[in-house]
Amino acid sequence: MQNFSFHNPTAIDFGTGAIAQLGQRVPSEARVLLLYGGSSAERNGTLAEVRQALQGRLVQEFGGIEPNPSYETLMRAVEQVRSQGLDFLLAIGGGSVIDGTKFVAAAVPYPQDPWHILETGGAEVKQALPLGSVLTLPATGSEMNAGSVITRRATQAKRVFHSAHVFPRFSILDPTKMDSLPVRQLANGVADAFTHVMEQYLTYPAQAHVQDRMAEALLQTLVDIAPRVLATEHDAAARASLMWTATLALNGLIGVGVPQDWSTHMIGHELTALHDIDHARTLAVVLPANLKVRRAAKREKLLQYAERVWHLREGHEEARIDAAILRTEAFFESLGIPTRLSAYALGADAVEPVLKQLEAHGLTALGERRDVTLALSRQILQAAL
Ligand code: NZQ
Ligand code: ZN
Repeated sequence: MQNFSFHNPTAIDFGTGAIAQLGQRVPSEARVLLLYGGSSAERNGTLAEVRQALQGRLVQEFGGIEPNPSYETLMRAVEQVRSQGLDFLLAIGGGSVIDGTKFVAAAVPYPQDPWHILETGGAEVKQALPLGSVLTLPATGSEMNAGSVITRRATQAKRVFHSAHVFPRFSILDPTKMDSLPVRQLANGVADAFTHVMEQYLTYPAQAHVQDRMAEALLQTLVDIAPRVLATEHDAAARASLMWTATLALNGLIGVGVPQDWSTHMIGHELTALHDIDHARTLAVVLPANLKVRRAAKREKLLQYAERVWHLREGHEEARIDAAILRTEAFFESLGIPTRLSAYALGADAVEPVLKQLEAHGLTALGERRDVTLALSRQILQAAL
């Protein structure tokens, strides 16, 4: 196991009715900005519940944060916070709203053009406004991590930043808030969480026994609950498990002391920026192709994954690896998520523009060994056609 330091300061309030905890979580003298997306939080009553819980505080609102939140929209929120002297941000939504709120939190006190935060990956963020979140879509883990992904529409640049200053102070996880989610978003949540675990697990062995076992537990839980989560009849227990599993998949715990990959995510981000494909759907296209192309480098962990997650113990090692990759594809397909670029009407001519963007963003040495060059990314994209 590699050396590591671990600190996760986000408090979690989990369960039905947990929004009532906001009264204690948000300081009573706070001047609050509620940030949300389109209409879902209003329509399903979450906003009303939040307003009720914050009664007595000065509260303003900023709606309209879009999926894959844009710098352009968020800068309007930055202006509102600055001009109104607001000092606490509360995100109500999925990963996009929480990521957007993290950006606003860091941008408000930032001494230069806030796009610089994305250009430098957050390295120069020295402070941020305090923020909390009410999660309505389990998928990204943003509710309990220090990452954020922001898109600049003008240049189709989707960039990531990390800063310990933007960990939410608290996140409210009420699984009943998922009741209004369309099946597409539930499926996306399962696929995103699954891939988060894979990016931290399916690398090379690091003698990190408990991290491996935790990762395998999360993967197996997702495989077990997925059909129940997607079933037309609401299965409250399965949905509650998805919510907590997705949080645990990317709150840092399984990633300590181990090599991490993230090449699937970085290639996927470019596909979203160029072609507006949902984040999780890009991952389902890239991950199986990535495993196929890099099967030699990932051989030992692929065999472990085959055995412990898919119970593939019989036969030749190569055949077990083939079968594990096929199971991964079949799992995404079982969620109703395609695993080929052709499903999005993208062919061979879609490959080079993605590589250009990767190059422009300095993403030319990805993966756990930094050996995913543009040439390897090209092979991965070609394998995904
Ligand atoms: O905008 P509204 O009307 O709220 O609708 C949203 C949106 O259209 C809807 N929705 C959310 N909760 C709902 C609901 N609809 C009905 N009922 C509810 N309870 O769902 C749609 C998608 O929301 P979004 O927040 O975009 O989805 P997700 O949580 O998948 O977030 C994706 C974003 O997170 C980034 C992605 O790149 C993408 O920009 N990621 C962030 C990460 C992080 N911070 O650690 C890691 C991830 O790998 C990912 O990159
Ligand atoms: Zn993701």
